[in-house]
Amino acid sequence: MIKSLQTPEPQLLKPGIKAPVQETLLTPRFYTTDFEAVANLDISANETELRAVIEELRADYNRHHFVRDEEFKQSWEHITGEKRRAFIDFLERSCTSEFSGFLLFKELSRRLKDKNPLLADAFNFMARDEARHAGFLNKSMADLNLSLDLSYLTKNRTYTFFPPEWVIYTVYLSEKIGYWRYILVHRHMQANPEYQFYPLFRKFESWCQDENRHGDFFKALLRSQPQLWNNWTARLWVRFFLLTVFVTHTMTVFERATFYESIGIHPRKYNNTVIKETNNTSARAFPLILNTNEPTFFWRLEQCSENNLKLAEISKSNRPKIVKFFQKIPPIFGIIWHILRLYLIKPIDAESIRETVR
Ligand SMILES: [Fe+2]
Ligand SMILES: [Fe+2]
Repeated sequence: MIKSLQTPEPQLLKPGIKAPVQETLLTPRFYTTDFEAVANLDISANETELRAVIEELRADYNRHHFVRDEEFKQSWEHITGEKRRAFIDFLERSCTSEFSGFLLFKELSRRLKDKNPLLADAFNFMARDEARHAGFLNKSMADLNLSLDLSYLTKNRTYTFFPPEWVIYTVYLSEKIGYWRYILVHRHMQANPEYQFYPLFRKFESWCQDENRHGDFFKALLRSQPQLWNNWTARLWVRFFLLTVFVTHTMTVFERATFYESIGIHPRKYNNTVIKETNNTSARAFPLILNTNEPTFFWRLEQCSENNLKLAEISKSNRPKIVKFFQKIPPIFGIIWHILRLYLIKPIDAESIRETVR
């Protein structure tokens, strides 16, 4: 078994309403951006592809998909102990990140309405999808007698400012990694139905197609902005964002290894496949991708996760603050060192292989 953290007992805001987990670098964040700059984006370099993707979003293929059918109508009290805690934690993280997408897309569609109606439409369609996803996850939490107060979250979470370029890189990646995360769980459940302990996972197949379309929109937007891929600074940023997304993913998967094991998923294999597939997919959008076949690649990612688990253990201990401070220095430097070494691995040029990738 892979070492992971014990999920803490959920804290309540009021009866039945779960207090949001403490914000850390790994919890899903809420974003804001320079709306004026997004409204003024010149998309003419890739307008045909963008319009085609937006028509796909408009078609709303999943409008009848998010229905809580008969299967949900039963008691879930038999899910207990660590599995229940870890599942609630999984639902909360997923719900928060879907909701974070909803808030950003909704605000973008509102602010762009008059100046850029085409992009405003796209953001409106994506906000519609994310609201469905977040709502569905929150209802699943309610099946376990808890839910998230989303309006409380809206008002009380801190919003991180990202310039539009960073939003395009990171949202593209989070949509595509979201696609791979959902589809791999779905495929696993299809092959091993004995692990299907809750019907949510059955919904993932069409659900992940929403994320795929969102990713395709951001890919088309990114390719409409040559400065986001045709120069050396863009190449450095792309490496940075790919790496941070993969490090964060590894840390969160290994923190919740117990949950994945409880549904029959091998955390290491799952993490490696999600990262490899997301990296390969990114070759369609980015000027380069990372070399996941480099022998130390996954080992270094896991070293970051090991150090992250050490940090969590130190934080949880009852030792005096000053002792904790000094104890945290080596694992922090460990993470920085491995990230730096990963960053320096020679990437793979994607522009030259563009025609051959899916
Ligand atoms: Fe979503
Ligand atoms: Fe999405």
